Amino acid sequence: MILVTGGLGFIGSHTVVALLEQGYEVVIIDNLSNSSLAVLDGITKITGVKPHFEQLDLRNKPAVHYFFEKHKNIEGVIHFAASKAVGESVKNPLLYYENNIGTLVYLLQEMTRHGLSNLIFSSSCTVYGQAATLPITEEAPIQKALSPYGNTKQISEAILKDTVNAYPAFKAIALRYFNPIGAHPSALIGELPRGTPQNLIPYITQTAIGKREELAVFGSDYDTSDGTAVRDYIHVIDLAEAHIVALARLLAAKNKSNLEFFNIGTGTGSSVLEVIHAFERVNKLKVNYKIAPKRPGDVTAAYADTTLANNELGWQSRLSLEDALRDAWHWEQKLAE
Ligand code: NAD
Ligand code: UD1
Repeated sequence: MILVTGGLGFIGSHTVVALLEQGYEVVIIDNLSNSSLAVLDGITKITGVKPHFEQLDLRNKPAVHYFFEKHKNIEGVIHFAASKAVGESVKNPLLYYENNIGTLVYLLQEMTRHGLSNLIFSSSCTVYGQAATLPITEEAPIQKALSPYGNTKQISEAILKDTVNAYPAFKAIALRYFNPIGAHPSALIGELPRGTPQNLIPYITQTAIGKREELAVFGSDYDTSDGTAVRDYIHVIDLAEAHIVALARLLAAKNKSNLEFFNIGTGTGSSVLEVIHAFERVNKLKVNYKIAPKRPGDVTAAYADTTLANNELGWQSRLSLEDALRDAWHWEQKLAE
């Protein structure tokens, strides 16, 4: 049995689908703080399997303890549950430290207490800040975090390092995601941004469907080919697959050290304007946008060197930016039905 925390969220739900399709038995923990029970139906419709689900808040230490007392057959854990809005983390840092750090600590306490060892952790390319060299390898130095959210990912990685040192039987892989986008091609699950989206793709799809008047392109004088910032946008289906191979690596004891880090991206950078124009082209519509001031804290360019994941995990992204933008649009249309 594989425990997936935050398994009803954006990346978690797609990973649960991939796990079920591979024949894994899955139990999801989610407190529905950023998801809904409808996602469980979507997963069931896609796979024909209803995963076990425990509505539980990982900040509730006794409840986490009870969960592990009750489930004695957990072979691996994929830990997605966290809060992820950068702006909100600046306004409410303590919520972020509690939800992102506290929950990881409780989880690790229970895993080590029960002799469980295989953890996949959701980290982020945000740990690199503006890297001096592109594409970014795992060797790039970790830079001072620009937000409490970013700091929680750095602290989490440090907690994992200390944990593997103290518990030699414990093994973990931290996947540093670049920019996950898209949705399941069935349009049965996707991203569910609450309120005004902070991320580019949901803002584009909501503008295209008429929920938002205009997309603001944050900055046009970056040192990039067209002046807009560059990111590595990866289809959530490819990202989900990376979790499957990372988990299999731990389960088969193929890991080369007890804590490994992998960049998970496509290796290709796209500018904001390139993304907008690709979206317009592939979906045959126009997006209303204007150039606006830079967003504080944004880096100029970030894209992954994925050599390590390619060679060690035997994983590489398969789907294109266009695939992701098509699927994101179908999902937005489905939400509007
Ligand atoms: P998401 O908000 O869609 O999913 C997180 C899920 O965890 C939600 O379903 C939420 O209800 C649940 N959750 C949150 N706190 C919980 C708690 N205390 N107890 C139980 N459940 C809880 O986010 P996502 O985009 O799927 O991100 C998943 C992970 O990947 C997070 O750790 C995030 O920081 C990380 N990450 C995301 C991105 C991105 O762009 N989406 C990029 C890098 C890293
Ligand atoms: C952001 C977070 C990062 C987090 C990631 C996933 C910041 C500074 N970084 O990454 O820590 O891991 O989300 O949740 O918030 N853009 C616009 N207009 C918009 C929205 C975005 O032009 O309305 C631009 C941004 O300036 C950026 C690009 O689009 O250049 C991508 O933005 P976004 O989707 O928010 O991701 P990141 O900023 O890369």
